[in-house]
Amino acid sequence: MAIEIVADVTALASRATDLICAVAARKHQAVLGLPTGATPIPVYSELGRRVRDGICDLRGVSAFAVDEFLASAESPGTNAAFFETHLRVPLRALHLPEAAPSDPERHIAAFADEVRRAGGLDLCVLGIGTNGHIAFNEPGSERDSRARVVQLTLESRRAHASSFGALDAVPPRGLTLGIADLLESRAILMMASGAHKAEIVARAVESPQSSAVPASWLRDHGDITWLLDEAAAAMLTQH
Ligand code: GLP
Repeated sequence: MAIEIVADVTALASRATDLICAVAARKHQAVLGLPTGATPIPVYSELGRRVRDGICDLRGVSAFAVDEFLASAESPGTNAAFFETHLRVPLRALHLPEAAPSDPERHIAAFADEVRRAGGLDLCVLGIGTNGHIAFNEPGSERDSRARVVQLTLESRRAHASSFGALDAVPPRGLTLGIADLLESRAILMMASGAHKAEIVARAVESPQSSAVPASWLRDHGDITWLLDEAAAAMLTQH
């Protein structure tokens, strides 16, 4: 497990972009897993800048979103809407689970199969929720969990209230790749920024692994980088 601590959000965006562009440079048809949330927004904007400047080329890259809300497809808070707004770079393909599939369990299982058929994720980029969730694997998610429909916690729904307009408008359920699916990625880049993430980062990295902190399962991965700004790293005691 590598832990890289950088000064602030700007440095984090720059370093994360370095790592993403390096994967695309090494393998033209690389496959990425991508998260939503506030943390990756500066990363996607830096990625856009480098692509426009011709420093990074993602045209061969296929990307898979790691989760989606079960919501009306027109809802402003879907991850599809998020990527349309924030990820303004030409990719070979961006795959997302549908927000309103007729058979959600079957749909998300088929989506995980699609990831495998694409050759698996070369790099899965992730953020962490303040309750330790990764993608939509909420507390209680086991290490062997697979792609599935999940009930979202109030804490996670609160974090998304502004993108849906109000807490009541945030869907109660989501679709997610499971922990076991995420661990199959060849490499993982876990990003966290801000003082509000310091406690959960310390628990995920240094407390005993448990489904109470789903991100702690990532420690089983042989090629994971925790990219943290100083504020998010502040409560680590051993690093
Ligand atoms: C969301 C997403 C996750 C994301 C997490 C952290 O619920 N489903 O993929 O990593 O929350 O978000 P943020 O970066 O806004 O703290």
